[in-house]
Amino acid sequence: MKKTVLSGIRATGRLHLGNYLGAVKGMLALQDNPEYETFYMVADVHTITTPYDVEELKKNRREVIIDYLAAGLDPEKSVIFQQAEVPEHLELAFYFSSVVTIARMQHLPTFKDKVKQYPDSATMALLNYPILMAADILVYKAGMVPVGIDQEPHLEVARVIANNMNSAYLTDFPEPVRFATRGEYVPSLTGEGKMSKTVEGSFINITDDLETIKSKVAKMPTDSGSGSIPATGAEKGSSIATVLAFVELFQGKEKVEEYKNLYMSSGIKYGDLKRELSDAIYEELKPLQEKRRELENNPEFVNKVIKEGAEKARIVAQRTLKEVKERMGLL
Ligand code: ADP
Ligand code: TRP
Repeated sequence: MKKTVLSGIRATGRLHLGNYLGAVKGMLALQDNPEYETFYMVADVHTITTPYDVEELKKNRREVIIDYLAAGLDPEKSVIFQQAEVPEHLELAFYFSSVVTIARMQHLPTFKDKVKQYPDSATMALLNYPILMAADILVYKAGMVPVGIDQEPHLEVARVIANNMNSAYLTDFPEPVRFATRGEYVPSLTGEGKMSKTVEGSFINITDDLETIKSKVAKMPTDSGSGSIPATGAEKGSSIATVLAFVELFQGKEKVEEYKNLYMSSGIKYGDLKRELSDAIYEELKPLQEKRRELENNPEFVNKVIKEGAEKARIVAQRTLKEVKERMGLL
C-alpha cells in the first residue's frame, strides 16, 4: 500500500526561498517517489486565522497554486487543491476539537508568538489553527508531512489528536511525522530569525529577478572579511554565518570550506562572494520563473487543476469523515 503525504502553505503572499527549500522541495521529492500518494494544498482557510485582506486572499489562493505548478508539482502525480474547496477539513476539525484541551492549545509556542504579533486578534480561529491542520493531514490519513522545522509543534498536536481519536473511537489514524529537507531552516537575510514573508527585508521571493536578488543579497550583514576564527554557516552568532548558510544551500559545502580558508588567509572579498551567490540563487529560480510565465498565460489549465484537485481530494476526505461520524455516533 502507498503511504500518504499531505502538505500546505498559507495563502499570505508570494512564496519565498524558505517556503521553497523548507516545504516545496520536500513536496517535490515525495511526489516523484512512487511509494507515496501526495496531496498538496493551499491553506487558504488558515490564512483567516490572522488579520488579512479579502482581495489579497482571493488573489493569493490562486497564486500559490501557480507557484506550486511552476516549481514542478504535477497534477498527474499529486492532488493539488485549495483547502476551502474541501469543507470536510473544517467539519473534521470540529470533531477533533473535542479530544484536545484548551490548555494544550494555549501553551503552543506558535500560538503565543502569533498572539504577541497580533495582540488584538487572538481569535478562536487562531487557537484552532493546529486542530484544523491536524484535520488537513488526517482527513487523508497522511503519515508524512513535508514542512519546515517551525511546524514541528503543530505536528505534535496532530499526533496527540490521532492517538486520542484512536483510543476513544477506535479509528485508525496514523501518527504523522515531518519529512525534513536540507533547507528545513532558511535564515532571514537580516541574520536574525528565520526567513518569513511577514518580516520585511527577511526574504527573497521565488519570483524575484536577478537585479532584485542582487540588491537584497548586497544588504546581508558581513564583517571585515578575514580573521583567525573560521566562521561557518552553522555557527550562529558569527557575523557572516548567514551569508555562508546561503552559500551552503545554493553552492554547496565545498564552497563554504573555500571561503573559510580564504577567511583565514588572504580574506574574503564580499562583493565577489555576493555576486556569485546571487547568480547561483537566480540559476535555481530561473526555470521556475519561465514556467510561471507560461502558466500565467494559460488560466484554463490552472482552473482545471484547481477543479479536478478538489474533486479528487473530496472523494478521500468524505470517506474518512463518514467513518469518523459512524464511530462517534453521528451517523
Ligand atoms: P511564513 O513564515 O513566511 O509565513 P509559512 O508559515 O506560510 O511561511 O510557511 C509555509 C511553509 O514553509 C511551512 O512548511 C514552513 O515550515 C516553511 N517555511 C517557512 N519559512 C521557512 C524558513 N525560513 N525555512 C524553512 N522552511 C520555512
Ligand atoms: N501551518 C502551515 C504553515 O504555516 C500551513 C499548513 C496548514 C499545513 N495545514 C497544513 C502544513 C497541513 C502541512 C500540513 O506553513
